[in-house]
Amino acid sequence: MPAGFKYFPAFLDRQAQEALVDLLRQAMVEAPFFMPIMPRTGRPFSVRMTNLGPLGWVSDRAGYRYQATHPDTGKPWPPIPEEVMAVWRAVSDYPHPPEACLVNYYREGAKMGLHRDADEEDFAAPVVSISLGDTAIFRIGGPERGGKTETVKLASGDVCVLGGQARLCYHGIDRVLTGTSTLLKDGGRINLTLRRVRKPE
Ligand code: SIN
Ligand code: FE2
Repeated sequence: MPAGFKYFPAFLDRQAQEALVDLLRQAMVEAPFFMPIMPRTGRPFSVRMTNLGPLGWVSDRAGYRYQATHPDTGKPWPPIPEEVMAVWRAVSDYPHPPEACLVNYYREGAKMGLHRDADEEDFAAPVVSISLGDTAIFRIGGPERGGKTETVKLASGDVCVLGGQARLCYHGIDRVLTGTSTLLKDGGRINLTLRRVRKPE
């Protein structure tokens, strides 16, 4: 694994996971999942997305970017719940709060190709990921496309940190193992990624 990749299996217990899903359901009334589009090809992603926090990551024909409002409703994103901020404080080893919490929803068959999270200004801050629901096969490689990769199974309640050398490493989700969790009543997987977008003053 690249240096700076940290894995915290079962960081959240079942009760904490259920509480988080309830909070997400409430937030999703304000900020429903939208269908992101690949800028060049115009093809939809297989994951659905929404965001929490002052900034949210979006992708459409115009490109990838962070913006303060939901692309469909035009409303600001709901706040990041305190329970999620607490995970960041516990594992990020970074003194400033995250500004974006991207919520990825993987229904059956959804995956995410290898990519780097590089739309942020400050790579000194790590990306913190929280997994909920079905187990995913997470793949991580090095800073160059086409290098050697390894996989980790991310189960419900697991947290991982991409910091240091791992911050700009290629990563993605090969697939989600249907039926491996009972957390989400319609099945599938939700992943939260917390990001610091702007350089702190
Ligand atoms: C991502 O790289 O944005 C998502 C990773 C994951 O779903 O675990
Ligand atoms: Fe990513």
